[in-house]
Amino acid sequence: MIGAAISRIDGPLKVAGRAAYSYERQDAGPALYGFIRGAAIAKGRITLIDARDAEAAPGVTLVLTHLNAPPQAPLVAKPTIFDRPNPQLAGDGISYYGQPVALVVAETFEQARAAAALVRVEYEREPGAYDLAAHADRAEPQETISLGLPGETRFGDIDRAMAEGPVTVDETYTTPYHLSQPMEPHACLADWRDGRLTVYLSTQMVAPGRAALAETLLLDEDRVTVDAAYVGGGFGSKLYLHAEAVLAALAARALGRPVKVVLTRRQVFTLTGQRPATIQRVRLSATPDGRLTGLGHDVNMQSVATLPWIEQTATVSRSLYAAPNRLTRHYTTDLDLTPGEAVRGPGELPGLLALETAMDELAHRLGIDPVELRLRNDTDIDPELGVPLNGRRLADCLREGARRFGWERRPAEPASRREGSWLIGYGMASAIRAHFQGATEASVRIAPDGRVVVRSDTPDIGTGTYTIAAQVAAEALGLPVEAVTVELASSTYPKGGGAGGSYGAANTAVAIHRACRALRERIAQAAGGVPSNDLVGTARRLFPEGVEATGAIVGQAEDPNFRNYSQNTYGTSFAEVAVDVHTGEVRLRRMTGVFAAGRIVNPKTARSQIMGGMIWGVSSALHEAAHVDPRYGSWVNGDLAEYVVPVHADIPEIEAILLDDHDEHANDLGMKGVGELGVCGTGAAVSNAVFNATGIRVRDFPITLAKLLPGLPAP
Ligand code: MOS
Repeated sequence: MIGAAISRIDGPLKVAGRAAYSYERQDAGPALYGFIRGAAIAKGRITLIDARDAEAAPGVTLVLTHLNAPPQAPLVAKPTIFDRPNPQLAGDGISYYGQPVALVVAETFEQARAAAALVRVEYEREPGAYDLAAHADRAEPQETISLGLPGETRFGDIDRAMAEGPVTVDETYTTPYHLSQPMEPHACLADWRDGRLTVYLSTQMVAPGRAALAETLLLDEDRVTVDAAYVGGGFGSKLYLHAEAVLAALAARALGRPVKVVLTRRQVFTLTGQRPATIQRVRLSATPDGRLTGLGHDVNMQSVATLPWIEQTATVSRSLYAAPNRLTRHYTTDLDLTPGEAVRGPGELPGLLALETAMDELAHRLGIDPVELRLRNDTDIDPELGVPLNGRRLADCLREGARRFGWERRPAEPASRREGSWLIGYGMASAIRAHFQGATEASVRIAPDGRVVVRSDTPDIGTGTYTIAAQVAAEALGLPVEAVTVELASSTYPKGGGAGGSYGAANTAVAIHRACRALRERIAQAAGGVPSNDLVGTARRLFPEGVEATGAIVGQAEDPNFRNYSQNTYGTSFAEVAVDVHTGEVRLRRMTGVFAAGRIVNPKTARSQIMGGMIWGVSSALHEAAHVDPRYGSWVNGDLAEYVVPVHADIPEIEAILLDDHDEHANDLGMKGVGELGVCGTGAAVSNAVFNATGIRVRDFPITLAKLLPGLPAP
C-alpha cells in the first residue's frame, strides 16, 4: 500500500459535490448570513458609526460594530502564532486597510451585503508608512525569527572573504508581497447552542484554531468544537484565526442562531496576511575553481510592530552550501499594513529566489557550469549546525535533473540561441526545505461492526492526507485500503500538528503507523500471542465492544533526530524559456524538477503537490506581486483579475520526479513532507533561464516585460 499511486479516496465525494466545505455544511440547520464591512482607511480611528439604516434594511437581524461588540481577549503577539487571539470590532482604532468595522447579519447573503453598504462610517485618518523601500532606513535587526530560529548566524569573516575574492557577487534582490489566495475563500459557520459553540471552519490548524477562538471569545476551550472536514486549499493563510470565524461566532452567540460568514475574494486580500516584501543582499566569494569562501545573506522585510511575522528567509543560506565564512541576518521594517503570515514556502521561496540567482551570477562570472558549481559546494555536514544532513541527495537531484532535462544542450553564452524572434535560454537552481515535526497523535479503532476507523484532527487541505492516512493504516494492519475509514479534522479527534509547514501528511502518517502497530500488539496479546491472519475477525471476537489504540510522535524539540541531524528535503529545477525579442514576453517551454523527500507514500498525490509547488515557483519568477498603494496603504491589485498567477496557458508540460528513498533518520516511515518543496528554487531556475536567454539579469521580482524591454538585444 505504501508507495502505491492510488487516486484520492475523497475524490469521488469531491467531484460529486458531496464533500461539504464549511460554508456549505448543513449540520446546524438553516443559517443566517454575515457580511463584513471593511475600513476605508489604513491608519487612524473611527469618529462616527451609524448603523440605523442598516438595521432597518430588509432581512437584517443584527449589526455588530465596536459600539456593541462583546468583550474579547486583547490582541497579543505570541511565539506560537497559530493560537493567538484575534479580537474583532474591539475599538475605534484602525491599524490596516480593510479592517472589519461592522458585521451585518441578515436572512440572505444579498441582504447582508446590501445592508453592510448602508452602515455610515466616518474616520479620522492618520498618516501611515506603507512603502518598504522608502522606509528601509528604519530596518531593525531581529534576534529571533519564525520557528524560534536565530535571526543572525555568523562564522568566520565574510567581509574579509569578500575583500580577498578573487571572484565575488554582491547583489541586491527584491521580492514583492504575495498572498496565499486558496481557491476556497476563508469561511466559517458558527452554531451556538446550549452554551456550546461548534464552528465549521476552513482551517489548516484545528487544535490551535480552537484555542485561539476560545481565548478570543473568553470561553473555556472545552465548550468549543472545530470541524474542518474539507478545506479547499490553505497555502498558509488558514494557519491562523481570522475575522470571519470570530465574527460568525460572536453573531451566532448574540442571535442564538447559526451564522455563517465568508470572505469575498477582495477580503481574502485584506483580512488574511501577506508574505512580506523583502530586500535581500547576497554576497558570495569563491576561488577561481568555484569553491565558495564566503556566503552572506541579509534580508530586510516588511513587518508590523504589534504582530511581527518574520519569515526565515536567509536560513536557506545556512544549510545549502559549504563555505568557511558565513553571515545571515534578518531585519524588519514596520509598516502600517496587515500583519504578515505564512505563504507557500515561507522563507525558502524568497530566500532561494535571491540565493540561487546569485549562485547563477557567480557561475557566470567564474565561467563554470551552474550544475558543476553547486556540486563543488555540496556538503554532507550542515555547515552551520555541524551535524549530518540526513537524506541529503542534492547531488543525485542535480545529476538526475541535468540528465533528464538535457542540460548539456544549454547555450553556454547568454543570448546566443535564437528561434525566429524567440531568444532561448536554460536555467537551473537547487532547492532545500526544512523538514519539521510537530507533536502529533492519531488513533485507530476496530469498531464492533468491523469498521476500521483512523482519526486525527489534522485536516486534509487538498493535499491527499485522507488517502495517505488510509494507505499507511492499510499497510500496517495488512488490510486493503478500502477497509479503512479515515476521519480527519475534528477537535474531538486526537491532536495533530495541523496541516502546515509541509508536515501534515508525514507527521500524521507516522502517528497512524504507530497507532496501528499498537493495535496489532493489543489484539495479538489478547489472542495469547498467536498472530492472526484475520485481524478484524479476531478483534471482533475478542473485543465485542471494539478496540482502539493511539500512536504519537513528539515535537521536534524533544526528538533526538532533530538534534543529531539537520532535517531537510532537497531538489533541483531545470527550466527552458523563450523570450520574445520584440516584446520581452517570457514563455516557459518546459521544466524538470527532481526532488528527494525520503519515502514517497503515494507518488500520485506527491507528484501533484510537487507540480503545484513548481507552478507557484514559476509564478514567483514571472507573475505574482501584490502592490501597495503608497498613499492609502491598500492593495492596488487586490483581486484575481489583477493579482496575476499562472494559468494553464502559462504552464507547459512539467516533469516532476521524486527520488524514492527511505530517510532512516527522519522517522519510522523514512518519509518527509513534500507540500512546499516544489516551490523551492523553481523561481530561480526560471529567472536564470531568462538571463541565459537574454543576457539581462533582473533582480527585482517578478520578471515582467517592462524590466526586460530596455535591455533586449536588437531584433
Ligand atoms: Mo504552509 S505556508 O506552512 O501552510
